[in-house]
Amino acid sequence: MRFPDGSIRVLAIAGSLRRDGYNGRLLDAAARIAPAHVHVVRHDLRGVPLFDEDLERATGDGPDGVRALREAVAGADGVLIATPEYNQSIPGVLKNALDWLSRPAPVEVLVGKPVAILGASPGRWGTRLAQAALRQVLAATESAVLPAPMLFVRDAAQAFDANGALVDAAVEASLHRLLDAFAGWIDALHGDAMRAA
Ligand SMILES: Cc1cc2nc3c(=O)[nH]c(=O)nc-3n(C[C@H](O)[C@H](O)[C@H](O)COP(=O)(O)O)c2cc1C
Repeated sequence: MRFPDGSIRVLAIAGSLRRDGYNGRLLDAAARIAPAHVHVVRHDLRGVPLFDEDLERATGDGPDGVRALREAVAGADGVLIATPEYNQSIPGVLKNALDWLSRPAPVEVLVGKPVAILGASPGRWGTRLAQAALRQVLAATESAVLPAPMLFVRDAAQAFDANGALVDAAVEASLHRLLDAFAGWIDALHGDAMRAA
């Protein structure tokens, strides 16, 4: 949870495993430009096995990769998810992770958790359908999803340079607005509880 100085810890998850994926790059940019009191830390989904109720039962609180992800989500004040669009929806890798996190035992870490979503695609629509699908899943997990602003990064190949740095000033400004709004959203939802703790 919050650092003693009152700063906010945001866990950033990219919905694809691609090492130099646009969505991971977007999260790296978020970490770089976030307001000074917002610490964005990435967590990749590579270690999360396919959901399997038999495996869940055999391992109690889940396999190592799931436990690590659950603990990272539990320890964060908010979760920032950058989703690619696969076949007009979210990648299976991301849905799989959310399915693990949605399980009631040992703790439903996504219930009430502030979440902000964004996404980048090389296409013209910038993950509109994937983000809509992601909102639907996060309604099922009872997460507190930031309603606005939304960020759809289209033509992603032009938004980043050869080193993966975000070079589109308009996207950077939108990302900054989203992060500002997310910090305010987290504070509005949980600020009082955190200040009282
Ligand atoms: C299986 C598959 C399905 C895809 N379907 C879509 C799609 O429906 N809409 C879209 O804009 N891009 C689609 N794409 C292209 C992805 O947006 C593109 O691969 C993107 O770079 C993935 O995100 P990443 O760079 O963060 O890994 C698809 C890619 C794959 C591999």
